[in-house]
Amino acid sequence: MIVAPVWLVKARDVGVDAAYLDAPARGQLRTSKNALHGPARGYSKAAVMQSARSAGRALQDEARRSALLSSPAMRTLRATRYVTPLREGGSLPAIVEAEDDGLYVLKFRAAGHGVKALIAELLCGELARVAGLNVPELVQLDVDAALGRNEPDPEIRDLLRASTGLNLGLDYLPGSLSFDPAVGPSPSSGEASAIVWWDAWITNVDRTAKNPNLLWWHHRLWLIDHGSALYFHHAWADAGRQVGSPFEAIVQHVVLPWADDVPGAGDRLARLLTPAAVRDVLEQVPDDWLAGEPGFASPAEHREAYARHLQQRLARREVFEQEAARARASLV
Ligand SMILES: Nc1ncnc2c1ncn2[C@@H]1O[C@H](COP(=O)(O)OP(=O)(O)OP(=O)(O)O)[C@@H](O)[C@H]1O
Ligand SMILES: [Mg+2]
Repeated sequence: MIVAPVWLVKARDVGVDAAYLDAPARGQLRTSKNALHGPARGYSKAAVMQSARSAGRALQDEARRSALLSSPAMRTLRATRYVTPLREGGSLPAIVEAEDDGLYVLKFRAAGHGVKALIAELLCGELARVAGLNVPELVQLDVDAALGRNEPDPEIRDLLRASTGLNLGLDYLPGSLSFDPAVGPSPSSGEASAIVWWDAWITNVDRTAKNPNLLWWHHRLWLIDHGSALYFHHAWADAGRQVGSPFEAIVQHVVLPWADDVPGAGDRLARLLTPAAVRDVLEQVPDDWLAGEPGFASPAEHREAYARHLQQRLARREVFEQEAARARASLV
């Protein structure tokens, strides 16, 4: 355990993978988000950081175990300040500050594919965490009409106004670098195979060399931007036909050249994606995002359709695993 009085330290500042921390462990480390306050009297900065690092490692082992068994409840925070738009994103995401003083990448419900993109971000992000992949912490961000009222860009003002209510936020990873296959470093075979398997299961077309949506940060690869995944949810009437889709788009995947054991990764990840884990994550999708979908009488029915589709696709994973192996063979 980290002993007070130390500075207030965030998980990532001590080299702990926050994705693996359960709620109490994250609480211990979070104290005041993004804040490294001045040194406590009598402690040097180096000594405090060293102590925090060893405490972090011990916590990490424990937290990995519990995180693999449960997906901690997502926090809901009020967005307090619009900081700046992230111009490189097609959906006009923005960096905002929230009531905990942390910075988040805000994905707006009124952008692009609307609320379905947020459902995909939340479901895929939290399920990836269950499967042991690195994803920045996701939070629900409450946007009120006053946020960005003074923003000079009318497009951004309109987007903010239309997105009043619950939106999705990703913990902002300061200093992260986009993965570049030509520059490296290269992912390990195990990591690449897991990421390829992941994107084939969730039918994610957005992990190409042009648009990798993988960030290097603190010597790890972090998955972002799942808004275009779960293609089937844009046409529920046809979703059944997509359950066993081989997902040929996998040939474009940015880490496919390193992914030499996709079925092996499937064995590891599929074991963690139990029906109960999938339902737990679905429970975290706000009713408000799920209500009103034609063909479903209630958010609960809508959730059930996601659970059924994902489980059925998992049961037929050989189809997309074989396609990934075939696509890789055509490349290397
Ligand atoms: N959590 C994060 N920490 C740091 N940078 C981030 C984070 N999330 C996104 N970014 C940066 O912002 C860019 C845009 O984000 P993202 O890809 O999620 O938006 P998008 O609108 O869905 O993008 P597109 O559809 O163009 O790929 C990313 O490519 C990355 O450079
Ligand atoms: Mg992107």
